[in-house]
Amino acid sequence: MMTNKELIGTVGLGLMGCSIATCLLASGHEVITLVQDIQQAGEARKRIESFLWQMHDERLATALPKQLLAKFKITDDIKDLAACELVMESITENMEAKKLLFQQLEEVLSPVSIIGSNTSAIPVTVLQDGLRYPERLLGIHWGEPAHVLRFLEVICGRQSALVYAEKIMTLATGWGKEPSLVKKDVRGFIANRLMYAMMREAFFLVENGYATYEDIDRACRNDLGYWITFAGPFRFMDITGIPAYFAVMQDLFPELDNTTTPPGFIGELVAKGAKGTSNAKGFYSYTSESAQRWEQLFNEFALDIRKLSLKYPQNCGDLT
Ligand SMILES: NC(=O)c1ccc[n+]([C@@H]2O[C@H](COP(=O)([O-])OP(=O)(O)OC[C@H]3O[C@@H](n4cnc5c(N)ncnc54)[C@H](O)[C@@H]3O)[C@@H](O)[C@H]2O)c1
Repeated sequence: MMTNKELIGTVGLGLMGCSIATCLLASGHEVITLVQDIQQAGEARKRIESFLWQMHDERLATALPKQLLAKFKITDDIKDLAACELVMESITENMEAKKLLFQQLEEVLSPVSIIGSNTSAIPVTVLQDGLRYPERLLGIHWGEPAHVLRFLEVICGRQSALVYAEKIMTLATGWGKEPSLVKKDVRGFIANRLMYAMMREAFFLVENGYATYEDIDRACRNDLGYWITFAGPFRFMDITGIPAYFAVMQDLFPELDNTTTPPGFIGELVAKGAKGTSNAKGFYSYTSESAQRWEQLFNEFALDIRKLSLKYPQNCGDLT
């Protein structure tokens, strides 16, 4: 059984790769990260150091960043990952690139080392195709920022062995997560399925002239926002009375949107180059300063909401 001291391999040091490495280092692991371009190493190390300071200041990590970074190595040689019992990739969302990486990892890893993919949308079963030991490939899906969120989904593809998934579930509690197990591969896993169902409905309301972005965002924030960190849909229905939901479902489900293509106006925005706050072009108007401020506020909020949720029962289980 792995402990929180052991070596973990990761691949990729982009947006998520940096926050995942931060989380593992802060949990006490020795970490080795494979990158394509070793020139990225200096910048990524700086970014990780700033996250570790943030964790230290928030008391999410007791050791000093310098001590934690002493256990961090960046390499461009895949053979350096050979001793890892767990390697998690967070490279570009491209099926061919991920499959090629898994084949290369299989050349150097032991047959019982676990390989995790942070894919958001590629079915784990598809990624298992052609592997020599597909049973050790799992989806290990983090949320951004990975060093702050308590979220983690562990996904079994058709050929995954449950015993490996259970190992990661146990290990992840040591990373400060409240992991969820997805026992059978399903597109979008849990959180993204729920989020995209909500987004589809939000687009329906705008596109059909029922409400503006602002009114939808406001309602969402002040209703769902008040309970969703405390309880998921099932606990929420228990607390607020199941029969009413049953009655509403009978009338409302037939009315909900079931469009299967993305709405035209998001395509138009993307075609015009809108990326959101990262380039100050989105559904709302921004200056570069206001866009930066929104990103900063969002990061602060993630830390606050984490603290708030930790005051309440964990793991959605029974009260003791
Ligand atoms: N951004 C998010 O909020 C988020 C959330 C959950 C999951 N994910 C998933 O995580 C993965 C990474 O997303 P991201 O947002 O960090 O992307 P990103 O573009 O910021 O980073 C990807 C990094 O992978 C590197 N890379 C590409 N091929 C590589 C290889 N063969 N070996 C080593 N490095 C390689 C790239 O140079 C880049 O630095 C994707 O699969 C994405 O779907 C992202």
